[in-house]
Amino acid sequence: MIVLGIESSCDETGLALVDTETGLLAHALYSQITMHQEYGGVVPELASRDHIRRVLPLLEQVLSEAHLDKTAIDAVAYTQGPGLAGALLVGASVACGLGLALHRPVMGIHHLEGHLLSPLLTSNPPAFPFISLLVSGGHTQLMRVEGVGQYTLLGETLDDAAGEAFDKSAKLLGLSYPGGPAISRLAESGDPTVYTLPRPMLHSKDFNFSFSGLKTAVLTVVKSHPRPLSEQDKANVARAFVDALVDVVVAKCVNALRHSGLKRLVIAGGVGANAQLRSALNAAAAKKHFQVYYPDMEFCTDNGAMIAFAGALRLREDPSQARFDYSFTVRPKWPLSEISGRII
Ligand code: KG4
Ligand code: ZN
Repeated sequence: MIVLGIESSCDETGLALVDTETGLLAHALYSQITMHQEYGGVVPELASRDHIRRVLPLLEQVLSEAHLDKTAIDAVAYTQGPGLAGALLVGASVACGLGLALHRPVMGIHHLEGHLLSPLLTSNPPAFPFISLLVSGGHTQLMRVEGVGQYTLLGETLDDAAGEAFDKSAKLLGLSYPGGPAISRLAESGDPTVYTLPRPMLHSKDFNFSFSGLKTAVLTVVKSHPRPLSEQDKANVARAFVDALVDVVVAKCVNALRHSGLKRLVIAGGVGANAQLRSALNAAAAKKHFQVYYPDMEFCTDNGAMIAFAGALRLREDPSQARFDYSFTVRPKWPLSEISGRII
């Protein structure tokens, strides 16, 4: 079966075609980052309007790349939530409109499930079960994954998500949105010995995180600096921020693996593209003898491929999950626990 995936939960319009037997056929993405940059963050109304402009041309693009006609689509998967309500509505309405016009079933996909399963899109996918670290702009969670739809939450952030901490700290340093890649680049030329920032909850015995204090520590350094920060000062702060965040994330992953007895760690979400995090995880994996898996770089941040792929996996497990009912609602806030048989 050929599944069309539509992602429009935030500031990326992503479309993709996945064959349930052979995998990814085509994908296309339009990022609105430059449009939102001048406001320092995503403006929801502008995001919705831009999704409307991009979604149909991107559909034509993936169909033409896959040398297929619309009628070849067997089912349509779309991001139903969580995310920005107006932005989600664009993808949901296009998906349900297409389903209605083509007489094809549709299915609403949980955005985080898309991220979670995205590392399985690679040529060397991890086998179930595994520990998943989901680190995005909106979420930081550690989960035990037994299979599609079988997710047990081990711990999560109590306040800011990792990506959010990157974005807010970047803003404090005067860097442009999105802050993750900007801080990461700057940190490369930073001196790690100049500042030491707190490692929140590093020694807590659970799998929870807290990053808002780290962001406040960045604010304190910036405010208490005797003169405006030079480029080198900023790089030093960026380095201290990244070192602190990475230390905590790696330690929690190692603890979760030890606690579960599993040997496979799977990373997902935008912060999973971070070079410093990847190299620290790789070093820990070599030292502690576990395997670490990442999505391809282009599938770390939001994209349509992960939504089409999650739809395809769900369809393969149970075709009745797609429905011929074209009324739709979106779920701007949607706990992953609601779609998992085993989440606590
Ligand atoms: O998964 P994603 O595209 O969207 C959400 O579902 O939230 O993640 C976006 C987040 C942003 O906070 C962005 O700053 C962060 O991922 N990010 C990074 C990097 N690339 C994206 N953070 C650190 N280093 C990166 N290279
Ligand atoms: Zn995302």
